Amino acid sequence: MKICCIGAGYVGGPTMAMIAKQCPDIPVHVVDLNQARIDAWNSDVLPIYEPGLDEVVNEARGRNLTFSTRVDEAIADSDMIFISVNTPTKTFGIGSGRAANLEYVEKCARQIASVSRGHKIVVEKSTLPVRTAEAVKRILFSVSTGATFDVLSNPEFLAEGTAIEDLLRPDRVLIGGESEQAISSLAGVYERWVPRNRILTTNLWSSELSKLTANAFLAQRVSSINAISALCEATGADVDEVARAIGTDSRIGPKFLKASVGFGGSCFQKDILNLVYLCEHFGLQEVAAYWEQVVTMNDYQKRRFAESIVRTLFSTVSDKRIAIWGWAFKKDTNDSRESAAIYVCRDLLRERARLHIYDPQVQKEQILADLELAMSADTGVVSQADRQLLENNVSVEKDCYATANEAHAVVVLTEWDEFKTVDYAKIYTSMLKPAFLFDGRNILDRRALPKLGFEFHAIGMS
Ligand code: UDX
Ligand code: ADP
Repeated sequence: MKICCIGAGYVGGPTMAMIAKQCPDIPVHVVDLNQARIDAWNSDVLPIYEPGLDEVVNEARGRNLTFSTRVDEAIADSDMIFISVNTPTKTFGIGSGRAANLEYVEKCARQIASVSRGHKIVVEKSTLPVRTAEAVKRILFSVSTGATFDVLSNPEFLAEGTAIEDLLRPDRVLIGGESEQAISSLAGVYERWVPRNRILTTNLWSSELSKLTANAFLAQRVSSINAISALCEATGADVDEVARAIGTDSRIGPKFLKASVGFGGSCFQKDILNLVYLCEHFGLQEVAAYWEQVVTMNDYQKRRFAESIVRTLFSTVSDKRIAIWGWAFKKDTNDSRESAAIYVCRDLLRERARLHIYDPQVQKEQILADLELAMSADTGVVSQADRQLLENNVSVEKDCYATANEAHAVVVLTEWDEFKTVDYAKIYTSMLKPAFLFDGRNILDRRALPKLGFEFHAIGMS
């Protein structure tokens, strides 16, 4: 058995590294069109930051784990091919802003079709709309090379920041497909380290839909507690206390009830919009509207947070220095896709704030690119006024102390552990007074910080 994976991103890279680590006898070849990304996977500085990933890659790379751009060769040489390319939300044409852009998946399927000989098992790893496997199958079966294929859906449930732990001890592995033989080949790979009773098998469509549904339910919990956070602020209740109280009900459970400035990441919004598009396609307007509200609530939460900063700072942040702590969409990752920080900062910039940003893992170039993209989202181009703001009002600093010097406010947007152990007395001394501190993640000590002199604001408490 030989495995290849097309797409060396946040999903393909760690997943294949884990398979290679656990199955030393199976050659695993990860390919990508992006040469720089492949070079990074072959270097000491991996392209993604993920706790524990370096050790796993170091163990398997050079033994049975290879990274290269030789896509055709890898496909031809493998028995099992994972498709793990990006499926972003469409930004043009039919379904723009909702449907998944399947361009990359389709290109992969065509490439597999043209290069393959003999029998191959093709595994969908990317999150895809329900019935994509049907399209992939049609493309594969249209070949006249005599090659034959089985298509499986094997959605990834790892969360960034905990990917290695999630891969090592998954709650479940889901495999959807029609061919018993293909399913048991793939199950045989996972069985090397995952107990058999955690490997669930379903039909193709159930597997595809389960991935979208899992993410929709998780995002819905975050939006639900965030909706309650607005009510807490209005009524004097405390959202963390409410979350604790309801989370002890074993039917509800404690996870994913942390109120925040809003969820981000490459999956939640994209998958819900996908689900909404699918429902609309099948004429299920009420179901579509129900799920869309999860995204609407998330947008409201991000906007509400930025507006409350402006209102609290005497209704103007123009020319005020604001320290931004955290850019990643959650801690322990360098991924900033759809991070709440982007949208909060865009809104503050348009109020003409001067932003001094620090994140322990996200690179300066990425932060600037994210802001530029957000500012061009409405029209496709960055206006002259926004360009000036980007050039004159944004700076990225090397540590959080540098951001706070003579700042009017510190705003925590990612729950990095290091923000919990900062010398806040030192930060307070360096800031202008009153010194405002906004905790968009409810991670800081809300009793101690006001005692140091801060005017402290958190989510869902007045
Ligand atoms: C998610 C799913 O959890 C994972 O199973 C799937 O494979 C991919 O999508 P990910 O996006 O990496 O994983 O991170 P996740 O931990 O789910 O967090 C998503 C967002 O929700 C983050 O911005 C996080 O900060 C936010 N969040 C999460 C909250 O605001 N509150 C919570 O209680 C939990
Ligand atoms: P994810 O978070 O789903 O892993 P990423 O964007 O991090 O998404 O990774 C997807 C990767 O797939 C990118 O590195 C991209 O270059 C790669 N990719 C897209 N299309 C192809 C293709 N046809 N052949 C090889 N690699 C591809």
